[in-house]
Amino acid sequence: MRVSQEEAVAVDLSVTFTGLRFSNPFLLSSAPPTESESNIMRAFEAGWGGVVTKTIGLHPVTNVAGPKTKFLRTDPVTTRMSMQKRPGTALHSSWNWELISDKTIDWWLPRIERIKKAFPDHILVASIMAGSGSDTELRHWQELATGCQDAGADAFELNLSCPHMDRQDMGSNVGKDAGLISVVTKVVKEVAKVPVWCKLTPATTDIAAEAGASFAAGADAIVSSNTFPSLPPIDAATLEFEMNVDGYVSSGGLGGPAILPQSLAKMSQMTQVFPDKSFSGIGGISDFSHALSYLLLGCGTVQVCTAAMLDHAIGPTVIKALNEGMTAFLEANAERGWKSLEDFRGIRRDRVVTHSKIRRPDGKEYFGGKDAPEGYAAPSISAAPALTESS
Ligand SMILES: Cc1cc2nc3c(=O)[nH]c(=O)nc-3n(C[C@H](O)[C@H](O)[C@H](O)COP(=O)(O)O)c2cc1C
Repeated sequence: MRVSQEEAVAVDLSVTFTGLRFSNPFLLSSAPPTESESNIMRAFEAGWGGVVTKTIGLHPVTNVAGPKTKFLRTDPVTTRMSMQKRPGTALHSSWNWELISDKTIDWWLPRIERIKKAFPDHILVASIMAGSGSDTELRHWQELATGCQDAGADAFELNLSCPHMDRQDMGSNVGKDAGLISVVTKVVKEVAKVPVWCKLTPATTDIAAEAGASFAAGADAIVSSNTFPSLPPIDAATLEFEMNVDGYVSSGGLGGPAILPQSLAKMSQMTQVFPDKSFSGIGGISDFSHALSYLLLGCGTVQVCTAAMLDHAIGPTVIKALNEGMTAFLEANAERGWKSLEDFRGIRRDRVVTHSKIRRPDGKEYFGGKDAPEGYAAPSISAAPALTESS
């Protein structure tokens, strides 16, 4: 059956996520593209369904004396991977050691107000971050939250994931500690009148544990991934890190295409344990096929940073391609009755299984590295093969 023109345009890109309506599920993530009023306004004009502000804090911020972000590129012929700009290379990743916004809360609040006045129907999420080591620090979370929501922010994203903090009670150090996650989330929920999203660090063993702590404390959604801990490569000629200040480097964050598969794995760990909860996927997205992987695992929105940074600072071409890609995808699947994200969200979540559940050739069986169960004894692991289930 061919789809008529009228049916083809009946697709709906809008989504409702944590009770908020977005014109499409594509958001600019908290990063340089969202660090100013003019960028955020341009992003809404370009068609982004939502914007998460660059993280706002109350503590002093001073960035390193050198570039804060660079892009790693690979050469398909020589296999060389380097930050040096050169023709014929493909983007591998972004590497950054940029701290949160160096603008004060007093700088941000009137701007949030003006952005929301200009774009009342667009979703503006305030990313916030404070410490967690004392009552004063915890009150800072509440101060940030109340200020931003009074200025008109539609939701909060708690930055529990910044990988560049020396402080043990901040950023990804909070995201690595289920107890601190719980305390911080509860403190913000006490004052929040809008949804609270927790942005977790991917630098833990089982991110579902931190997601569980967030949800138990009242989080409305989990956002993942922030950048992955990493170092820039060392240049073979100079023997210096390709990005350094006075020869020194510290662990920074990897984003962009390289982290897509890793970030999908983190997302899958969480959506399997919490199939009915809300998730926003980030990591390596630059076109709809990338976004689709997150949506098929169960995400209700996705966010973009690196691809937008490389596209006129706020990604006008990227958002156009994302919207067009989703429209084309829904039109191509109209015969299945799909009209919006809810018709296909999460349909590949359960295809991620333990290794022993993957079919072996020639009907051979595999018990996850254990001996075959003997006699009538029940298999000692729940992951015993179920060959007939593998479709
Ligand atoms: C230069 C730079 C600055 C960033 N700053 C923040 C930030 O302030 N707060 C935050 O939550 N994430 C921050 N991020 C992380 C991004 O929001 C995003 O989670 C990460 O880059 C992965 O997405 P991508 O693969 O699309 O780049 C930053 C990323 C980059 C590259």
